[in-house]
Amino acid sequence: MPEPTTAGRHDALVDRLRRAGCVFAEQEATVLEGAASDSPELERLCARREAGEFLEHVVGVVELCGERLAVGPGSFVPRQRTALLIEAALAEAQRRSRPVVVEAYCGVAPVAALIGRRVPAATLHVTDSDPRPLVHARQNLPRSAGVHRGSGLEALPRELAGTVDLLVAVPPYVPAGQWDLMPREPRECEPAAALVAGRDGLDEIRRLVAEAPRWLAPGGVLLIEMHRDQAPPALAAARGIDACADWGTADGEDGETVLLRATMPAPLPDSGAPAAPIPPAASAPAGPAPDLVLLRRVRDRIDRDHAQPLDVESLARSVHLSGGHLSRRFRQEYGESPYSYLMTRRIERAMALLRHTDRSITDICMAVGFSSLGTFSTRFKELLGVSPSAYRAQGAEVLDSMPPCIARRVTRPIRNREAPEPDRA
Ligand SMILES: C[S@@+](CC[C@H](N)C(=O)[O-])C[C@H]1O[C@@H](n2cnc3c(N)ncnc32)[C@H](O)[C@@H]1O
Repeated sequence: MPEPTTAGRHDALVDRLRRAGCVFAEQEATVLEGAASDSPELERLCARREAGEFLEHVVGVVELCGERLAVGPGSFVPRQRTALLIEAALAEAQRRSRPVVVEAYCGVAPVAALIGRRVPAATLHVTDSDPRPLVHARQNLPRSAGVHRGSGLEALPRELAGTVDLLVAVPPYVPAGQWDLMPREPRECEPAAALVAGRDGLDEIRRLVAEAPRWLAPGGVLLIEMHRDQAPPALAAARGIDACADWGTADGEDGETVLLRATMPAPLPDSGAPAAPIPPAASAPAGPAPDLVLLRRVRDRIDRDHAQPLDVESLARSVHLSGGHLSRRFRQEYGESPYSYLMTRRIERAMALLRHTDRSITDICMAVGFSSLGTFSTRFKELLGVSPSAYRAQGAEVLDSMPPCIARRVTRPIRNREAPEPDRA
């Protein structure tokens, strides 16, 4: 019998994956082929995927913020939504000359790994209670990083107390009652302890908020990822525990993910930037900082006028800021430039039009403010991993199950399906 051609083998692989229920069989086949060194290995990888393992566990890699990170069975696979935390953490780390950074509940340590690659002068420590992800964390981090095993912050070296410039975490935050409602793959492939944290999902967040001030340096920053619905109770708990820190939240673009953020009192030791506002006493109103109000106004304007060309200078003038200051603060607060924010809004609008209307793709491209179909398609693909026509053909729901290494970036439309639905929280 003649040997099947390469194309024939690829088609057969796509067929097998499709029969196993992989919605993105074509792309997954390419990922598996890229990961296998020969046919027997490809066969083994394919069989594991057919048996329902996470694609990232099978190939041992996840892509996040343009970097490849090692991951494997028994470990939580970093999610694309964590790009929000990574961008905010990078911005904080880059403001300091030699930051001391701790990633708690680190798993394979995506945030510390990215900081290690982009801010080489950073001193890194990571900690997790499960030894399995720590094996991969060691692979992802520079050799100088401290990798500690223990519950919460217990395993951190005592001499770090009061010296940490940046403490970041994606703790488990799924409410116990939501576990059964989660998609099958994470339930079968990831340990429940990596995801679930008590009745309201806030057990580990409350614990971290209580323990963090002891470790943070004056002016140090704490950043914790959570679901939007958890932000108000987490913020209230945090203000109750430490009224001296400046507590706040920052929304992610996916409409689901939120960062809880605290700055310890006192000016930053080595940044040329003006000191963060020292928070008022606990009794002061808990409203947003004044320039946050201006930033939100700008963001709302961009949302409303998303089909118009972006004029940052005129937006800045409308809130009495300089263009440079507006862009910098916008990036700090929302994790990306006003331009990039606008592009995502346009794509989001385009997705809704693709789903709910039968207007042509060119028509939709123009309606959301792009003047070139090429730029529109490129940006769409960059954010969602598929072209506008494939998105329309496949339907929006299937994209929710796109593996993170195929969906390169989280965007608002990709739902964070592990966190509670607003009406169930
Ligand atoms: C949601 S995962 C996040 C991992 C990683 N930060 C990321 O984003 O990929 C939570 C991690 O917390 C760890 N964990 C759960 N309970 C813990 C505890 N009490 N103390 C320390 N780590 C814990 C789990 O092992 C898991 O790796």
